[in-house]
Amino acid sequence: MTIDGMRFVITGSGAGIGAGTAKLAASRGASVMVSDTNDANGQAVVDEILAAGGTAIYQHCDVTDEAQVEALMAAADSAFGGIDVLHNNAGIHESMISGELGLESMSRDSFEKVLGVNLIGVWLCAKYALPYLRSSDQASIINAGSTSSLSGYPQCQAYGASKGAVMQLTKMLAVDLAADGIRVNCYCPGSIHTEMVDKFLEAAPDPRAMLNTMTQTHLIPRMGQPVDVAELVCFLASPESQFVNGAVWTIDGGSLAWRGTLDVLGMEAQA
Ligand SMILES: NC(=O)c1ccc[n+]([C@@H]2O[C@H](COP(=O)([O-])OP(=O)(O)OC[C@H]3O[C@@H](n4cnc5c(N)ncnc54)[C@H](O)[C@@H]3O)[C@@H](O)[C@H]2O)c1
Repeated sequence: MTIDGMRFVITGSGAGIGAGTAKLAASRGASVMVSDTNDANGQAVVDEILAAGGTAIYQHCDVTDEAQVEALMAAADSAFGGIDVLHNNAGIHESMISGELGLESMSRDSFEKVLGVNLIGVWLCAKYALPYLRSSDQASIINAGSTSSLSGYPQCQAYGASKGAVMQLTKMLAVDLAADGIRVNCYCPGSIHTEMVDKFLEAAPDPRAMLNTMTQTHLIPRMGQPVDVAELVCFLASPESQFVNGAVWTIDGGSLAWRGTLDVLGMEAQA
């Protein structure tokens, strides 16, 4: 895939899928702006990329802070001479804020915080990346949705609402930015093994049962890994996907392709 020389900004890339994408893109010749709220993690990702001979820099950015988002895009432009790819990866689940996940017990503040990062953060990053993306002839925005953009899950009211909205925002931006030659796509992962999933499982009343719920519908009987998603993001960024726009890609081991559980097929899921 020809992402060699492309300039990426990846939000929330100090860990998980964002970190995996930063490393894969850099290993293929992209220049990567790593950003996160966790500076130690973000800098560690940059150090790993540099040690492997890649190009990356780190900048602190909370995607809910408009001034920090504006500064992030300007910093990427001054370091790399522009931006080709905005990967809106940063996201949180309500279980990372509080254990109160029921409709009666979850606070309005928790609900708004999730929407703030997962939805408004995506919109803010697109808004401030736009002037730079306009100057690129291979520009795209790639948004992190979720299978919860498309299907119901227990204890995911704020998260699912935000991810459903991100999927729709993707389509609206694809329409509005078409004349600028900027593609906007969204991908919807199933269960990918990252810290977010570990915390979600810890918060579940019965973590084992929740793990089963999360993997029992995967036709590929394992959790996904960050690199699985990173491969898709690199494809969506590359010129090979130039006719893909406003699209919603599931990357879920086949989970949403059917209605059933692995025991029906005589299969067992691995952790
Ligand atoms: N892991 C999964 O199974 C899964 C499934 C579907 C969708 N996703 C989505 O993929 C994305 C990445 O998930 P992950 O599992 O790698 O999560 P993660 O928790 O492992 O990593 C997320 C990163 O985002 C950072 N972050 C949190 N709030 C931020 C903010 N306000 N501004 C900037 N950075 C912030 C965190 O510090 C962290 O480094 C999220 O949008 C998530 O919703 C993940």
